[in-house]
Amino acid sequence: MSETQNDILVHTEAGVATITLNRVDKKNSLTRAMYSTLADTFEAAAQGTEVRAIVLQGDVAVFSAGNDIGDFLQQPPASQDSPVFRFLRAIATFPKPVVAAVCGPAVGIGTTMLLHCDLVYAGDNAAFSMPFVNLGLCPEAASSLLVPQMLGYHRAAEALLLGEPFMAEAALEVGLANRVVPPTECNAIAQAQARKLAAKPLSSLIETKRLMKLGQTAPVLARMAEEGESFGRMLGEPAAREAFTAFMAKRKPDFSQC
Ligand code: COA
Repeated sequence: MSETQNDILVHTEAGVATITLNRVDKKNSLTRAMYSTLADTFEAAAQGTEVRAIVLQGDVAVFSAGNDIGDFLQQPPASQDSPVFRFLRAIATFPKPVVAAVCGPAVGIGTTMLLHCDLVYAGDNAAFSMPFVNLGLCPEAASSLLVPQMLGYHRAAEALLLGEPFMAEAALEVGLANRVVPPTECNAIAQAQARKLAAKPLSSLIETKRLMKLGQTAPVLARMAEEGESFGRMLGEPAAREAFTAFMAKRKPDFSQC
């Protein structure tokens, strides 16, 4: 099976569904339509046995610049059923292994979606950042829960309050990445690992992942719902509107009134 849907490419071979973010001219920023395709792809891949593992990859120079800011300004997610939240629930509850290949910038949801992947291979050019505060927003994807768990509170505060980027080696050190690799080899390494997984008994993979996440899924979904409420509200508030308008106008935001 091979199909192209807008800016997301999906190709399934040897039990591995490879999802490629393919909007490189806009740094793989994610639109509503792209979130819908991602959500549909994860939901479909969860069923049956044709797909046994997923690879999530971007370009050698950019993984994803996060939400498409113009799209968010025009059509902010209005409810928990909006495509971005549907995608986040789908990846957080996906029962089979997900392997990510991350090169270049991984901004916002470009980083937080990795918290829900099982294996993460990072190009040595990968730069992770969660600049929600800088955008007048708050964390999503249960990152307010999972990042402190993974990094410890103080390093999480640096990542989430200051929104400072951290590079591949730091991601490796805190356990957000499994290995740092040359960018040109990153997708192939992720693919090889996914094929190894796809050759294993699917029932054992699913049961092992379920057990590893036991007790975690409900708090993650509850946190996502709470974050989603705040995120949706904050999108319409002055700080986010200033940040987004400034980004579109290619100027620095002025938060002196926010
Ligand atoms: N939403 C919409 N468009 C975006 C985007 C986003 N999140 N990120 C990048 N783009 C667009 C730019 O507007 C630009 O479009 P143009 O060519 O029509 O002017 C194009 O992608 C290239 O981006 P540019 O900023 O010139 O690339 P860069 O290599 O200098 O920087 C990034 C790459 C990812 C570091 C930078 O684009 C960035 O910081 N993006 C915003 C990330 C962000 O805040 N995301 C969180 C959203 S909640």
